[in-house]
Order: sequence, then C-alpha cells, then structure tokens
Amino acid sequence: MSKYNVAIVGATGAVGEELVRVLEDLEFPVADLLPLASARSAGGHIEFKGKNILVEELTENIFEGRDIDIAFFSAGGSVSAKYAKYAVEAGAVVIDNTSHFRMDPKVPLVVPEVNPEDIVHWCDTGIIANPNCSTIQMVQLLKPLHDLYGIKRVDVSTYQAASGAGKEGMEELVKEMQAFFAFKLDEYKAEAFVHQIALNVIPHIDVPQPNGYTKEEMKMIDETNKIMHSDFAVSATCVRVPVLRSHSESITITFADNVVVDVDKARAVLGDFENVVVMDDIENNEYPMPITSTDTDLTFVGRIRKDLYADNILHIWGVADQIRVGAATNSIRIAQKWIKSEEYN
Ligand code: A2P
Repeated sequence: MSKYNVAIVGATGAVGEELVRVLEDLEFPVADLLPLASARSAGGHIEFKGKNILVEELTENIFEGRDIDIAFFSAGGSVSAKYAKYAVEAGAVVIDNTSHFRMDPKVPLVVPEVNPEDIVHWCDTGIIANPNCSTIQMVQLLKPLHDLYGIKRVDVSTYQAASGAGKEGMEELVKEMQAFFAFKLDEYKAEAFVHQIALNVIPHIDVPQPNGYTKEEMKMIDETNKIMHSDFAVSATCVRVPVLRSHSESITITFADNVVVDVDKARAVLGDFENVVVMDDIENNEYPMPITSTDTDLTFVGRIRKDLYADNILHIWGVADQIRVGAATNSIRIAQKWIKSEEYN
C-alpha cells in the first residue's frame, strides 16, 4: 500500500491534536508527518505512533523540498488565506478546515458520506474545503431524508460545545467552572466568548451579519445547499452551550407538500446511512447526548417524530463530536477518498 507524507498546520490546536489521533486510529498510511504551528510552539514535540516529532514553524517556504502529499490546515482562516498556496505550489493537496475557501465556487466542499463525487474537482485549485462542524453533522442526517422525500425547508437550532472555539474555548469553560466553585466567577473576565459560558447559553456564535443572522448561521445555510447540490430553504439559530465537546442540533424538516411522513421509514433510511447511528427509544431514556458521541466518529440521531399539525414535517435531534466528526475525522475521510480517486485515475 502507498504511504503519504502528511503536514498538519495548527498541529498544537484542538483540531490539530485530534487529527494526529485520528490518523493513528484510522491507520492512515502516513510515511512522514510534519507538524506545523506558529513560532510560539515551534521547537516543541507531538507524539505520533509512539514517537516524538518536532513541531516546526509555518513559513512561506516550509513546504519546499518536503514532498508533502497532503496538507491539513487547521490554524484559522487568515493562516489558510496566506499559506495554503505555498503547500499547493509545493505539490500537496490542501484539506482546509477553515471557512476561508468554502464558498469559493472552484473549491469542492465535501462531506464524504454525502458528496464524495465532488472530490475530483480538487485539481482546479489544489484545495478541498472541510465544511463547518455544525453543517457536517446536519447534512449527514438530511441527505438520506432528502433522497427519500425531497426537502423543502430546514429549521435548525444548535447547541454548540465550547470546543468550537478551540482549546481556548474549552479552557475558558473549565476555568469559569473552577471560579464558580471558588466563589470568584464574578471576577472572571470572559475572553474566548462574548459572555460567561459557564452556567449560561449564548445565542451568538461568530460575527453578526447585516441580515440579523450570525456568520455561523449563514455558514450552515450556505454550505448545506452547496454540499447537497440543492436549493431548499434553511434557517439556523446557533447557540453556544456549556458543554466541552460534541454539538447537538434540533432539526425540523419540511418535505414537499404532498409527502406524508412515515416515521419508521425515516428511521430506517437514517439507520442505513454510513456513519449514522439511530438511538431513539425515549421510553427507555435512550437518545443521543454529547456524552454519547464524544470521542467517537459517529453521528447519532434520536427523538425522531412527526409534526403534530403537518403530515410533511419531521423533527429530529442529532449529536456528533465537533472535533472529530465536525473537523478531524471528516478531513481524514476526505483524504481517504482523495487517495482512492487518485488511485482510480
Ligand atoms: P500555536 O500553538 O503555535 O499557537 P486552537 O484552534 O485550538 O486555538 O488552535 C489553533 C492552532 O493554530 C494552533 O496549533 C496554533 O499554533 C495554530 N496557529 C495559530 N496562528 C498561527 C500562525 N500564524 N501560524 C501557524 N500556526 C498558527
């Protein structure tokens, strides 16, 4: 089997560290690993397959002569904007986990279970974009239902974990809880989030837009139709909750006017979909929660029920690990499919 030289930009961050773990867990065929970060953590080490590997500083010419096949970028949009081109020029395919290239019409935006056929367009720019974490887990649930009935509209409210704001976000939640137990929470100044996140929920993720939505909400709206090659209506309300990792979503799906939803059929197509697990037995307190999905590569769905007033509306509850399914695992699944498509060509 061929092996690939892999670079991880942002290797010391929450997603970067998970990328290293998922490469190991999925036995990705890595020849050499090049971990990159800012000057702050260059010189440190990360552990990969029992070996300590030096973290190097990301610079414009770091990719030259390194023969990198695949470069995962997860260090923020401005870093991808500046440095992705150097990795591409040096011959790598870039799998970008930031929002920077996602809506570029020339860049494929891929969830491998949903639109693997788009990966071949990587050669237009050398870049494949990994969607927003909340979008990934939602489209994995929408795709089989869209194929079954045809979606007309989706209304989603998210319950997003602190991990979406990286290590800084998770640390802030923990530190605020510690301050709470030390009776010092009123002295703590929130930095990663715009308000205190401990013991609170914040209906505001990312930058407000002129239309009243936030950038996070617009990402879910725009990316969903790009990935699914669809044009149905989507509305999103994105909310940060005091959970460490794993996002939850309450999703209301309106199908074509003539559809009469059969809940058993909906449950069956969801259960048959790759990497989706149905957990739906409320009588026995069974439904997915963040503690169900954390540290797994699966997207869980439960609370599947028909609307009380309209035959063509279904309500579902989806949960997935934001750092794995919503970022690292999806990126590595893209790389696996990319390898297959290259071998095929
Ligand atoms: P560093 O550890 O040197 O700051 P998170 O999303 O958990 O906050 O992690 C962000 C990741 O992106 C870290 O690995 C961080 O490295 C990296 N990063 C941030 N800014 C830069 C930059 N200008 N150049 C390279 N890596 C960066």
